Amino acid sequence: MDFSIKAFDTKNTIATAKAGVIAVAVFENKKLSQAAKALDGAGEITAALKSGDITGKTGTTLLLRGVKGAAAERVLLVGLGSDDAISEKSFTSGVTAALKVFSTLGASDAIIALPATEVKDRDVNWAIRTVVQSGHEAVFRTDGQKSKKDPAAAGVKKIALAVANDAANKLALAQAVAIASGMDLTKELGNTSANICTPTHLANVAKKLGKDYKFEVEVLDRKQLEALKMNSFLSVTNGSEQPPKFIVIKHMGGKAKDAPVVLVGKGITFDTGGISLKPGPGMDEMKYDMGGAASVLGTFRAIGEMNLKLNVIGIIASCENMPSGRATKPGDIVTSMNGLTIEILNTDAEGRLVLCDALTYAERFNPAAVIDIATLTGACIVALGHHKSGLFTRDDEAHNALADEIMAAGKNASDTAWRLPIGEEYNEQLKSNFADLANIGTPGGASCTAAAFLENFTRKYTWAHLDIAGTAWKSGGSKGATGRPVPLLSNFLIKRAA
Ligand code: BES
Ligand code: MN
Ligand code: ZN
Repeated sequence: MDFSIKAFDTKNTIATAKAGVIAVAVFENKKLSQAAKALDGAGEITAALKSGDITGKTGTTLLLRGVKGAAAERVLLVGLGSDDAISEKSFTSGVTAALKVFSTLGASDAIIALPATEVKDRDVNWAIRTVVQSGHEAVFRTDGQKSKKDPAAAGVKKIALAVANDAANKLALAQAVAIASGMDLTKELGNTSANICTPTHLANVAKKLGKDYKFEVEVLDRKQLEALKMNSFLSVTNGSEQPPKFIVIKHMGGKAKDAPVVLVGKGITFDTGGISLKPGPGMDEMKYDMGGAASVLGTFRAIGEMNLKLNVIGIIASCENMPSGRATKPGDIVTSMNGLTIEILNTDAEGRLVLCDALTYAERFNPAAVIDIATLTGACIVALGHHKSGLFTRDDEAHNALADEIMAAGKNASDTAWRLPIGEEYNEQLKSNFADLANIGTPGGASCTAAAFLENFTRKYTWAHLDIAGTAWKSGGSKGATGRPVPLLSNFLIKRAA
């Protein structure tokens, strides 16, 4: 899908614009949007609304051919609901509905002339991102591993957005395309089966990104991890035949002396639970347990595309969590890289075991902020469903500011997070008789105790944790990775670079 901006003015009007199809909005109260009016010289659009052929309800569509007031071959009417307050949801549904029709047409190019500046509480930048992201979603394929590919997408390949062609909108479009292409990578990696998408595969993808965007990439293997005393991370990989990979990827787009933002991703390419084996049904979805790592790589593709003026370092701790004769056993005690000993009471709480050493490793970069991203706890889905990622930070001035910054970045990108607590009470739940910390808490608040565990390893810098267990992928009939939280992270970094 190719996106561009097409601005209209008094000379260069929407009525004279040539295109396979132009999408314009109509409303429930039978009113026409500005763009629809401009094409309604002969009254066909008014007539269509009057006749009831289209109600104007959110997401309804009607395709008209040969509209006399339009030079375009087709006009697609798109219902956006109420005209006095176009909601974010309405606009998004309208765009999705239009794209669906576009994909069935014998047209190759389209103009989307929906009221991008009239969405309640949203700006045109948001509207541009919504169109681009929906466009990528519409053509995203999941047949990479099928022997017979799904039929090639028909229809529209080029979309022009009818918005002002100013510097701000041009930048917004470039950023939107970068973020959407980052999400594509994150989705692709998530959906790829775990026998292919191994730690080595993730490392190779990181190296490829390094070549494409001039990132510095370093991959540490088992020997180097042993030398660093990452015994907590290594304990998770014990049962696996796949070699662990610790990936460090650097985009130094800022000033050399500027402290970097560090993104740390959980990269469990398959989580069986280990000796604390998970139940069989649905276990295939644990191929998505590298969603944090995939979001780091996707965000790097986005910032590489944008050539963002900011120093950003990605760290990915990647391995499989498998049972075997060599696997870690419940009750085993390991010494993590920062010296804290951990009693592994449940080998299925492995995410925190790989992350804690990665978080210790992050200290060496004197970071401005560290954000870890992890499909960490099923309990996060119980708490927040699939709508919002869980956000955890310490409760002090600097961290509350960071939490607000992350929440705002998410809200702005329609990729929201919601804050949940950590603190002394939760640390109490992690006490062990035999080690400094247990890797699971006493019952209750499992997402909070997981985050509290991580907090012990982050006291040397400003830190936030995103639990994306509920947001990284969808189950059921439309099973697939979502690309989240690439929009949140990209937006956060864009704001930091500004
Ligand atoms: N990767 C899982 C978390 C998960 C489970 C995410 C289901 C999405 C869907 C994680 O490693 C895990 O197994 N967590 C345990 C922690 C428990 C043992 C304290 C969980 O959530 O059950
Ligand atoms: Mn697990
Ligand atoms: Zn896991």
